[in-house]
Formats: sequence, C-alpha cells, structure tokens
Amino acid sequence: MSAARGNGTAVGVVGAGYVGLVTAACFADLGHDVVCCDVNPERIEALLAGRVPIYEPGVESLLERNRARLSFTLELADVLRRCRIVFVCVDTPPTASGDADLSRVDAVVAGIPQTGTRHVLVMKSTVPVGTGDKVRLELTARGLDQIGYVSNPEFLREGRALADFMEPDRIVIGAFEGADGQAVADLYADIEAPVIRTDVASAEMIKYGSNAFLATKISFINEIANVCEEVGADVGVVAQGMGLDERIGPHFLRPGIGFGGSCFPKDVNALKQLAGNSGYHFQLLTAVIEVNELQKRRVVGKLEKHLGSLRGRRIAMLGLAFKANTDDMREASSIVLASRLRSEGADVVAYDPVATEKARGVLGDGVELAGSVLEAVTGADAAVIVTEWGEFRHLATRVVKEAMATPLIVDGRNLLDPRQARAAGFAYESVGRPADPADMLRIAADRADAVS
Ligand code: UDX
Ligand code: UDX
Repeated sequence: MSAARGNGTAVGVVGAGYVGLVTAACFADLGHDVVCCDVNPERIEALLAGRVPIYEPGVESLLERNRARLSFTLELADVLRRCRIVFVCVDTPPTASGDADLSRVDAVVAGIPQTGTRHVLVMKSTVPVGTGDKVRLELTARGLDQIGYVSNPEFLREGRALADFMEPDRIVIGAFEGADGQAVADLYADIEAPVIRTDVASAEMIKYGSNAFLATKISFINEIANVCEEVGADVGVVAQGMGLDERIGPHFLRPGIGFGGSCFPKDVNALKQLAGNSGYHFQLLTAVIEVNELQKRRVVGKLEKHLGSLRGRRIAMLGLAFKANTDDMREASSIVLASRLRSEGADVVAYDPVATEKARGVLGDGVELAGSVLEAVTGADAAVIVTEWGEFRHLATRVVKEAMATPLIVDGRNLLDPRQARAAGFAYESVGRPADPADMLRIAADRADAVS
C-alpha cells in the first residue's frame, strides 16, 4: 500500500459506508485532506471515536494511519465549506420494480445550499445512465450553475477494495466540463492506471456494462457447470482450459451458488429496467438473472439426492456472507437458500466467522446461529459450504465426521478436494464436478456403523 505523498487537495466524501470509507481512507493515504460526512449519527460518532462501522480488511489501519488528514462530520455544509471536490458515495438500493432508488442521491443534491462557490460534485455511487443529465438540470434549475458534475464510478470488490482503489485496472472519468474532469483526474495522479476520459453518460454506462458482463460470465460458467454434472465433465479444468484463451480470460469463471452482494444483482436488474424503460428488451440479462436464481436453489436437489425428504433434517449452512472476507449480507445467496431449506421442513443451523450479527436481522428467528463450525455441524445431516471462507477448507476431518449425524458435505463453492473429502469418509457433492456413485455407500456404511 502506498504511503502518503502529500499533494494535498481538500476532498469531500458524502456517505461513510463501504465505498465512502474506502474512498476517504485511500484519498487520505494519497496525501489529500478528506472531510467525510454521513447522515447517520451513530456512524459518525463511531468514526470520531476511532471505531470503523464496516468490515473491510485494511480500512481500519489505513484510517488510523491517516488520522491527521481525515475528519468526520454530520453536516454536508461542513464538507462544502472545506472542499471544492465532493464525492457522492451514498447507497443506491433497488426499488420494488428493480430500478435504482435515487432518493439518497436526490437528498444530497437537495441538501446543497445556495452558494456562489464553485464545487465539483463527483458521482461514485452506481446510478442509471442519464442521472448525470438529470442532476445537471436540477442544479441549474436551482440556480447552482457553478456546481460542476463528474461521473467517476467505483469498481471496488468488497474484501479487496483497498487494492482495487490503489491499483485499479482503469479509472473512468466522465465530465460535462473538461476542467472538472481534469480536477478529478489530478486527485489520482499518483496511481498508475489507464484513465478513460469521456462524457457523463458513457462513464455511467461503462459501470453498468462491466458489472452486467461479469455477472453474465458467472451465470455462463454456472450453466456450464450444470451441464458438466450431467455429462461427467469437471468444470474446474473446463474453466481453466477456457480461461487460457486470452479472448475469454481466467477471471470470474468460478461456478458456485449464484452471485450476490450489493452490486451485481441490483446493477444487472437496473440495466435491464433501464433498457426496458427506454424501449429495448435486454433478453440476455433476463436469462442471467433467472440462471442466478435457479443456481441458489440447486443445493436443495443435491441434499435430497442423499437424504430424501428434508423434513426434520438438520442442515448446517457454513458461511452466510455473499462472499468471503466481508460481513455483507446484501443479496447473499444464503438468504434464499435458508428460506428454501426451511420451506422443505429442514432445521437450519448456520455459522459465519464474521457475518453472524448482520445475518441475525436478515435470516429471522427460524435459523439457529452457531458460534463455530463444530457447533454448527454437530448432529447435522449435511454441511453446506455457502461462503468460501478459508477456515472451511479443513472441514473434511474425523472430528467433523464423528460430530455429524450423516457425513454429507455439499460444497457450493468447490472449496474442498473431492478425493480428500471422500477419503475422509464423507459423501461429497460440489458444483460441476463428477459425482461418485460410491457416495451413497459411504452414507449407508456410516448408518450401519451407527446401528452396530
Ligand atoms: C453504495 C451504493 O449502493 C452503490 O450503488 C455504489 O456503487 C457504491 O455506494 P455502499 O457504500 O456499499 O454502496 O453503501 P452503504 O454501505 O449503505 O453506505 C452508504 C452510506 O451513505 C450510509 O452510511 C448512509 O448513512 C449514507 N447516506 C445515505 C448519507 O450520508 N446521506 C444520505 O442522504 C443517504
Ligand atoms: C462487484 C464488482 O466486482 C466491483 O467491480 C464493484 O462494481 C462492486 O461489485 P463485489 O460485489 O464486492 O464487487 O464482489 P465480487 O468479487 O465481484 O463478487 C460478486 C459475487 O459474484 C459474489 O457473490 C461472488 O461469490 C460471486 N462470484 C464472483 C462467483 O460466483 N464467481 C466468480 O467467479 C466471481
């Protein structure tokens, strides 16, 4: 991670969530003086007391290291008084119709006081194409012509957001005025990356196009995996072989139990809606979404293959967050899976190394939360790996096998080595890798041992 270089521009950040705090910490580390505001008083209180309200590896120490260059406030007016360039990092969740909810963005724009001072508002939150034009009109209607507008979308993966900020594949800057775009580009001067300077609508579309393409890649490999299961091929080697073709590339070809998180599901839906609202039916994205929903549910069939009806069966879900290295539960596949298992009559117990607190509110009372892997699998008829946390790599042990009522592992992330899991006496199902007919015998043998 780079140390502060000190070319010291005052940078405002509105929204102290995942994106806002990473942006604030990284700009401070690049030597800028950052003023970060949020409407949530508990968040600001925590940050002022040196506590970080999100889980993102490295953010806490980066904020601490750059404490002298960071300040936190509840007042947007403070930010505007002290900074000419202000990044908007508020949340843009989906509405019931699948469009992006821009109420937080609107609130920020409406909160800009009448001021004669020149500012540049930089949109980092993902917003539908056309939002920049609308905000521009709104600012002009309010007599705030001197406020510039720039689109600078984020491409931060949770869990590795600091590296994505400091070593990005590209920096996208879309501006109405060249000088405003240049002012934003200057903030990133110490970062080595291609900079795409363009118009606002194209910058907004680059963000949607990128996320929709990555989501399509995941749904594609998930379908390839499902076919592999039918024909006895191994998706691991298939993805490797495909990915070596430079035109395809090796990334985002890991099959699993569907994509989740705060971006892919909402952005794919929002692009589909955006196209639909403009009169274009984006057929491919409809399939990408449907494949993703079905993928979350395929675990149920794999459990039934070995256990028959799931009524009264105890199923341990290992991992709840939408991916490893985050406590984020937004659109996590675990939510749909837990609900499906419960409607099949299963008793669901779940464990996650960091997301348990967040999960409590989301999963409801029907799911028992365990404090460790061992507690979760004790008495369970199956252990389902939902999130690829490193600590689950060592699941196939004698201790776990003896604790379980039935030695069945359904690996939704292809985290374990099938041979090792089976050698340890487990029946083992994964995604897109050949099943082993002897798995049935392993469960039968275990039952016979238990009876004798
Ligand atoms: C958000 C968007 O959802 C996403 O589309 C975008 O690409 C990145 O930013 P995230 O940072 O993960 O994602 O959101 P969240 O962690 O919920 O943080 C948003 C913060 O903004 C919250 O702390 C909220 O209190 C704050 N906020 C919201 C404001 O400060 N002002 C408002 O008017 C509304
Ligand atoms: C994503 C984008 O990658 C990032 O650029 C930004 O726009 C925000 O959204 P994030 O949601 O944090 O980042 O995580 P990401 O690593 O992209 O994973 C998203 C989902 O796809 C996760 O549920 C993950 O498990 C799943 N995934 C990812 C797969 O199932 N297979 C893969 O090969 C990659």
